[in-house]
Amino acid sequence: MKTIIEPFKIKVVEPIRMTSRAERERIIAEAGYNLFQVSADDVLIDLLTDSGTSAMSAEQWAGIMRGDEAYACSKSFYRFQDAVRGIFGFRHVIPTHQGRAAERILFSVMCKQGDVVPNNTHFDTTRANCEYAGAEAVDLPIAEARQPAALHPFKGNMDTRALAALIDKVGAERIPLCMITVTNNSGGGQPVSLANIREIKAILEPHGIPLYIDACRFAENAWFIKQREEGQAERSIREICREMFAYADGCTMSAKKDALVNIGGFLCTNDDRLAERERDLLILTEGFPTYGGLAGRDLEAIATGLEEVLREDYLQYRIVSTSYLGQAITDAGVPIIQPPGGHAIYIDAAAMLPHIPPLEFPAQALAIELYNEAGIRSVEIGTLMFGRKDPESGEALPGPMELVRLAIPRRVYTQSHLDYVAEAIIEVYQRREAIRGLRLVYEAPFLRHFTARLEPLD
Ligand code: F0G
Repeated sequence: MKTIIEPFKIKVVEPIRMTSRAERERIIAEAGYNLFQVSADDVLIDLLTDSGTSAMSAEQWAGIMRGDEAYACSKSFYRFQDAVRGIFGFRHVIPTHQGRAAERILFSVMCKQGDVVPNNTHFDTTRANCEYAGAEAVDLPIAEARQPAALHPFKGNMDTRALAALIDKVGAERIPLCMITVTNNSGGGQPVSLANIREIKAILEPHGIPLYIDACRFAENAWFIKQREEGQAERSIREICREMFAYADGCTMSAKKDALVNIGGFLCTNDDRLAERERDLLILTEGFPTYGGLAGRDLEAIATGLEEVLREDYLQYRIVSTSYLGQAITDAGVPIIQPPGGHAIYIDAAAMLPHIPPLEFPAQALAIELYNEAGIRSVEIGTLMFGRKDPESGEALPGPMELVRLAIPRRVYTQSHLDYVAEAIIEVYQRREAIRGLRLVYEAPFLRHFTARLEPLD
């Protein structure tokens, strides 16, 4: 069979409100050419993020009814803890309301001023929480990760030589932990190999530096390992996950991704002393250690989601549908980060729109055009998000890349939705010379992309 079908039937539907191009042009102008400011009801296909946007299964909804809402030691907590331990294998499982809460607690207990934390690439909340704790967040991706067109089966890998050099340079005593993000979201949703994790562990171990995994998309990463890494094809996804996490001392997790739920997260560790301090902090802001900012019903939904995400028919459909979109637009000439990642396709707007200079926001201009053309909401990862001001001259500086991310919610859209997205992108690509840049008219002092207002240049 050539066609890989969605391995589910649809039981509940949510209508999409159709809009015309003229309507969308008015809506986006009123929103200051900022897609974060557009009402979700005015979006046809929402590819802003894969986080918290999954469709839950009938079993998960049934779990929502079964949820035990006891304040302390609820049944749902133990189900959740068993599910997490069964996959990740860590001794301590601490629920949090989402991934960044786990990050804040982890960095608060492990880091101090002057510390250094390496990662393949820190996600922006990870970086922000690390820096907030006074540590320096250092990204050490392999060289291929910085070249959108370069092919590599594990483009999310960490540069292990750079890791060893960093330890030599700053000294192990200044590195309280090393992190690795699977898959590497900021690097294009690219996987990390088992061999790379093993090698990182071997470098850290003699120095006594613990390894933590940012596990958001762990199952997608395990699927890539099964497909691409030598000797892994016959192993189950669960076995591969157990090996990935066996090298680690703990993990942070946003359940909003690979636990197939709309809210939740957790922090794990094997270190009894750290766990105690983490739970103390948890009580301060998240809640009692058996619910950590979540309802009992959320813990049930996570426990079930973690089992469902390991199913091979699900993972095959998931990864194939992302690459289906990537392949369709690549075949038409659209430049993307290659190869397609697990949860998203990243269009290289710098390569597609060379006539728009970075300071005129080419990736944002493309995202706006996709909205006007077809009501698709994507996210700019370029100069609007990561541009900086020169601290001395005040001159505006471009971001490192100009990308438009199309993140695919799990189990939400069908193949015909993705066909529609591909057609829209190809249509826009064919008249790309006519796309014009934008100018900022308002920006907040930090994280400006959420609230910025822009204006098209003539
Ligand atoms: N780590 C990674 C790799 C992530 O992608 C995210 C969230 C987080 C941590 C934080 O988790 O949102 O539950 O607090 N990524 C979302 C995205 C927001 O759109 O990529 P959170």
